[in-house]
Amino acid sequence: MDIRSFLLISFKLLCFFYEFAYASDSINSSESISDDGRTLVSKDGTFELGFFSPGSSKNRYFGIWYKNIPDKTVVWVANRINPINDSTGVLMINSTGSPVVVSQNKTVVWSANSTREAKRSVVLQLLNSGNLVLRDGQNYDDDLGSYLWQSFDYPCDTLLPEMKLGWDQKTGLDRRISSWKSPDDPAPGDFTWGVELKDYPEMVIWKGSKKFYRSGPWNGIGFSGAPELRPNTVFNFKFVVSEEELYYMFWLADKSVLSRIVLNQTINLRQRFTWRESTKSWSVFAAVPRDYCDNYALCGTYGYCMISESPICQCFKGFKPKSPEYTDWSQGCVRNKPLNYSKQDGFINFEGLKLPDTTYTWVNNSMDLKECREKCLQNSSCMAFTNSDIRGTGSGCAMWIGDLIDIKRFASGGQGLYIRMSASEIGAKAEPGTKIVVAIVVATVVVIAGLLVVGYYMYKSRTKSIEKTESNREANQENEDGKEDLELPLFDGYMAPEYASDGLFSVKSDVFSFGILLLEIVSGKKNRGFYHPDHDLNLIGLAWKLWKEGNPLELIDSIFGDSCDLSEAIRCIHISLLCVQQHPEDRPTMAVVVLMLNSETPLPEPKQPGFLTDRKLLDPDSSSSKPELSYTNEVTISLLEAR
Ligand SMILES: *[C@@H]1O[C@H](CO)[C@@H](O)[C@H](O)[C@H]1NC(C)=O
Ligand SMILES: *[C@@H]1O[C@H](CO)[C@@H](O)[C@H](O)[C@H]1NC(C)=O
Ligand SMILES: *[C@@H]1O[C@H](CO)[C@@H](O)[C@H](O)[C@H]1NC(C)=O
Ligand SMILES: *[C@@H]1O[C@H](CO)[C@@H](O)[C@H](O)[C@H]1NC(C)=O
Ligand SMILES: *[C@@H]1O[C@H](CO)[C@@H](O)[C@H](O)[C@H]1NC(C)=O
Ligand SMILES: *[C@@H]1O[C@H](CO)[C@@H](O)[C@H](O)[C@H]1NC(C)=O
Ligand SMILES: *[C@@H]1O[C@H](CO)[C@@H](O)[C@H](O)[C@H]1NC(C)=O
Ligand SMILES: *[C@@H]1O[C@H](CO)[C@@H](O)[C@H](O)[C@H]1NC(C)=O
Ligand SMILES: *[C@@H]1O[C@H](CO)[C@@H](O)[C@H](O)[C@H]1NC(C)=O
Repeated sequence: MDIRSFLLISFKLLCFFYEFAYASDSINSSESISDDGRTLVSKDGTFELGFFSPGSSKNRYFGIWYKNIPDKTVVWVANRINPINDSTGVLMINSTGSPVVVSQNKTVVWSANSTREAKRSVVLQLLNSGNLVLRDGQNYDDDLGSYLWQSFDYPCDTLLPEMKLGWDQKTGLDRRISSWKSPDDPAPGDFTWGVELKDYPEMVIWKGSKKFYRSGPWNGIGFSGAPELRPNTVFNFKFVVSEEELYYMFWLADKSVLSRIVLNQTINLRQRFTWRESTKSWSVFAAVPRDYCDNYALCGTYGYCMISESPICQCFKGFKPKSPEYTDWSQGCVRNKPLNYSKQDGFINFEGLKLPDTTYTWVNNSMDLKECREKCLQNSSCMAFTNSDIRGTGSGCAMWIGDLIDIKRFASGGQGLYIRMSASEIGAKAEPGTKIVVAIVVATVVVIAGLLVVGYYMYKSRTKSIEKTESNREANQENEDGKEDLELPLFDGYMAPEYASDGLFSVKSDVFSFGILLLEIVSGKKNRGFYHPDHDLNLIGLAWKLWKEGNPLELIDSIFGDSCDLSEAIRCIHISLLCVQQHPEDRPTMAVVVLMLNSETPLPEPKQPGFLTDRKLLDPDSSSSKPELSYTNEVTISLLEAR
């Protein structure tokens, strides 16, 4: 070995140890990072900054990646559109204090726009969050906002914890995520994700200039179109709407888990990945679009998409497909009866929805639902309204101006929306006549039939228990009085979810009502107006909770005392849970219910019933006055037709 090679090797070795010993997280204006393997590492060692080549590309880019993950996962790239084709790249702070990446001949391939004039000395630092910040060299105070520039304001395809997605309305800065063109090319692709600056803001993914997916507006708890997104063990999130800022942000609940959201154009997905040390791999935690119904405006105006329906596009009650046979879904639906465009019109409340596109909306957070309804009726272009915030019992007013589009319906979760209808569609103006008389007769017959079945069954179970416990005769007599008071809730006007939300009515819908009656009898509580200080479950919810916990006996009204045959009572609860199943096909028919009540045949396990907390749905009082009337009319009329 000649002396020159020896010196060279020694020098390289020295450089290596220098780097190793001084792996720093920042540089000042007299330092630089060239493309020779030197990197900056965040203090806690999570992130690393330097030059790299993506995928199979030979081009050099300056960026940030996770230091300890062997399969290089890049989270940010500086010179996305200006790759360097050799290893001459250098990052430095130029004489006026701006970070720049230069290649051969001092060609600037990237520079940071600092919003403020740099003072004497500046420092470029890689923080533990993965944020690359430019700050005053003198000011070591890390308080947010004091940065002259930060990479979090210029995201690439990755949203990291504590990064803001959305607007700084003071400066007009719009932080959006944009996919890479391909795994080899980090240049911005045509898949972008950001927050739409509207009265009722929501997050949108665009494909080119076209909307691809909407999250639905923020309702105070989550996004209307993503009811499954809720705080969990991995991350927490918020959506900030103020005069100054409008953004979405998530942060880690468990710091030992890494989590990132990536927009991927190759597979048209936005994916959230989590890294667990135990498995040493990224796993997909969630992905959007979740299903076909997430495709923007798939079912056109006034159509809704429900993945369990066939076809998945359906028209709201009061509307019919625009194209014959609904062959072209995108044409949407049209009204059966035209609007009057005056105060003559009314509204029907549809539940379980992802609210429509909010591009043309108007919001007032201090109005209540009644004022909202009035305001909407006054404006001939207002087609729907709802509470802008669903926390508690709901507050605020959101109004849709113009046609409603991109609505999805969920089997559980989702929100209510009051859609404008002509008065004749609602039926509020229906002439009193034979129809209603017949309807009332039918309704009465149904209720009495239900009472007879229940009465017969209660009678039967009572005689049984008297036979069993002779000594409790007196107690039973006392209970006789109590029983009459239980009968009161039987007369409440209950609807199956599918009917209450979109007017689908079947023979299974009265089974649902019967299930609730049965629950009310057993528990001695009314489903409507059932409140509990510890939880916000309704009676169905409570019954299901106790059932799952194996304590269904707790539901039984104490008034039954010892007279109650517990196994019979549990069987009643079991049957009522089967009756209130979310999907009509899971409910028994009335004939089967009678059979179940009268025999000891084994019963199927109930699935989770629908709407465990949503009192509104089962309680027509919460909808506006006109639809209530229509419900009564329509229920009974449909019954007549069904029989
Ligand atoms: C930059 O940092 C180096 C090493 O910490 C130090 O020696 C040098 O004086 C600093 N230069 C400026 C301008 O702060
Ligand atoms: C690298 O790029 C420069 C200018 O962008 C060009 O002149 C040069 O030929 C390129 N070199 C190679 C090896 O492609
Ligand atoms: C760099 O500058 C030298 C002299 O100014 C010039 O001859 C050479 O072509 C330049 N190279 C590139 C890649 O621009
Ligand atoms: C430093 O970079 C900034 C941003 O590109 C630029 O505006 C400024 O002119 C540069 N200063 C010098 C001395 O080149
Ligand atoms: C820097 O500012 C200029 C002028 O305002 C703008 O055109 C450019 O896109 C900005 N660059 C970045 C990386 O934001
Ligand atoms: C997009 O996803 C595909 C399939 O998972 C993956 O191979 C590819 O690397 C991803 N693209 C980017 C830019 O990450
Ligand atoms: C609206 O209702 C009023 C009062 O019932 C009626 O006179 C008018 O013709 C209706 N207009 C339309 C467009 O239906
Ligand atoms: C919002 O509603 C409140 C209460 O009705 C009203 O006082 C206020 O003027 C409304 N604001 C706007 C901008 O309409
Ligand atoms: C309805 O309300 C919207 C939003 O406030 C407004 O732009 C429009 O002019 C109103 N239309 C009528 C007819 O009042």
